[in-house]
Amino acid sequence: MDKYRITGGKLLSGEISVSGSKNSALAVLPAAMLISGKVKINNVPRLKDVDFMLKVLESLGVKYSFSNNSVEIDSRYLNNHVAAYDLIRKMRASIYVLSPLLHRFKKAEVSLPGGCAIGIRPVDLHIKGLRELGVEVQIEHGYIEAKLSKMKGKEVYLDFPSVGATCQLIIAGTLAEGRTVIFNAAKEPEIEDLGNFLNKAGAKISGLGSDEIVIDGVDSLHETEYSIIPDRIESGSFTILGAALSENLVVKNVIPGHIESLIDKLQESGAVISQGKNTLQIKKAVKPSGINIKTLPYPGFPTDLQAPIMAYLSVAEGFSVIKETIFENRFHHIPELNRLGADINTEGEAAYIKGVEVLEGAQVMASDLRGGFCLVLAGLIAGSETIINRIYHIDRGYEDLETKLQNIGAAITRIE
Ligand code: UD1
Repeated sequence: MDKYRITGGKLLSGEISVSGSKNSALAVLPAAMLISGKVKINNVPRLKDVDFMLKVLESLGVKYSFSNNSVEIDSRYLNNHVAAYDLIRKMRASIYVLSPLLHRFKKAEVSLPGGCAIGIRPVDLHIKGLRELGVEVQIEHGYIEAKLSKMKGKEVYLDFPSVGATCQLIIAGTLAEGRTVIFNAAKEPEIEDLGNFLNKAGAKISGLGSDEIVIDGVDSLHETEYSIIPDRIESGSFTILGAALSENLVVKNVIPGHIESLIDKLQESGAVISQGKNTLQIKKAVKPSGINIKTLPYPGFPTDLQAPIMAYLSVAEGFSVIKETIFENRFHHIPELNRLGADINTEGEAAYIKGVEVLEGAQVMASDLRGGFCLVLAGLIAGSETIINRIYHIDRGYEDLETKLQNIGAAITRIE
């Protein structure tokens, strides 16, 4: 298993570019199966999670090619309505194949998904929504078994603005008969991206980016080409990196409005950030000050940046409190940060961070994707060598991370 060796304590500077959005790609690629034809998706990041998704699609009969960050998908020859455990267990987003399979075959069997170990993460909202649209769903032997005669649009209220359930219902409603309205929909930019892709292929979706999404079902979609948005979590991760370790870092290929809540918090802690149209320029505070953060659905502070910003705050002046309200088990990085010398305690959904003067290198272990990036950042802050084990978690969601970091002066290498 690969590891990272990091020698920390250096200032970083230069330009770092953000790849295409992982979470958009993971929704758009399965949604492309609604189209019985060819689709080209550009700006797709080369990531383990994207490879998993493509393997899932291939197992269903999709033909694809992936080069230069463009994926060409041909879904004309779908021949399998069963998405098997061995593939699905690796990634929660694979549940997005459910609705396209239902539209193509009128039936689907999809294993209950796995994914990062950050909470219980049920799929009840996906299932409740689909049932309201007329799908018969049973859970048998770890599989979601679903069938329908006709999918009919309806008003669906989500108890929580789940990203996954909103995407699932957008995909389902696109080819349903009549109008589907999702109330209390999630507003994340990746959902808007999914909707924009489907609209480009002929769907009729409005209200994207609001909590009330209206989908007027159409009979079919047509072939199309689409470019997905920059990854806002990678953008945010690099922005935190700059606030921790740079006197002049330029993050390129960003949509600054997508990480407004983060920019605001970093500025509150003393970082100087200026926004261009698609760039951010970041200068660290002499010593960042402690701040309080609560993770919330978009446009609130993203749960996916909770771990990265905790590494930054571990060496801030005074106290910080971070409340994690989205996932109930997303603090696996804290014992590892403490191994590096941080002083962090938890109580329920809150992490109490007492800023320390310095972090010191140690052997640590990534246990999920964003927690993995948190340890990379902590390793770069620390005054000596850090080895990060299990970096396959990081490979799921950061494209070419070590090359990008080396190019701005970081001493990070991948070792076996
Ligand atoms: C997506 C993102 C993930 C991000 C998360 C929250 C993808 C591939 N992943 O995950 O990076 O951290 O949004 O921004 O886009 N829930 C239920 N029942 C459901 C669905 C969700 O109880 O049917 C709960 C979850 O357990 C969790 C919360 O709702 O506590 C948020 O989940 P959701 O917004 O659906 O996140 P994901 O789509 O899994």
